[in-house]
Amino acid sequence: MPLQLAAMEKDVDINKVVRQHTEMENFFTGGFAVKGKNPVPEQPEQEDNAAVAEAAGELEKIADEVRRCRKCDLGSLRTNAVPGESNPNARIMFIGEAPGADEDAQGRPFVGRAGKLLDKVIAAMGLKRSDVFIGNILKCRPPENRDPRPEEIISCLPYLQRQIEVINPEVIVALGAHAARTLLDTNKSIGQLRGQFHEYYAGLGRAPIKLMPTYHTAYLLRNYSEENRKRVWEDMKKVLTELGLPIPERGKK
Ligand code: URA
Repeated sequence: MPLQLAAMEKDVDINKVVRQHTEMENFFTGGFAVKGKNPVPEQPEQEDNAAVAEAAGELEKIADEVRRCRKCDLGSLRTNAVPGESNPNARIMFIGEAPGADEDAQGRPFVGRAGKLLDKVIAAMGLKRSDVFIGNILKCRPPENRDPRPEEIISCLPYLQRQIEVINPEVIVALGAHAARTLLDTNKSIGQLRGQFHEYYAGLGRAPIKLMPTYHTAYLLRNYSEENRKRVWEDMKKVLTELGLPIPERGKK
């Protein structure tokens, strides 16, 4: 909902709402100095290049299938499917719930307001969007951004499972309750789940992947509080530590 409307609905001071949102976004931007070694993964060795190219090819095949998919009703409602994007060799995958209006219009994940905030979280971690893979549980936008339905999740989840299998990340960050509950097959609340690592079972014979649930950035935008921002940052620090990456220090805002 536009800020102005939100402010009018609640009869609050628009300047205060704008200030809160600006402050929150600043929390995850600028003034971060990365201490220690370069957090960007080393260039893969020559022999790894072929494996990365193969993974990129597999991901493109999955993306093609997603773009042609009609397994559920969302397929006929979409402008664009949103298969997910970026690094086929990513050490971290960020998984959200489903595309919104901006994502549906562009065919790319997390490009709206929640996406801009995710970009800032990633930057605060000393990383770039191109270092990670960003995807969703559902690849098509539910009307009016309603919650995903079980039958939609059942139809769509195999695409994400295959993406995870191809990328084989070291850590999955599940953004929000829908992503966390789906990937962990639990009904627990995001409040109960976040803040600690869980295990995502990638299939027989494969090692489980560490999964950190955290608040969705759309939730953060709606629930402005220093406490919530700090919780997300604490969760991301655990992810960096797990990966042996340096934790950027928050400098001046
Ligand atoms: N919210 C999501 O869960 N995914 C997107 O791609 C955008 C917003």
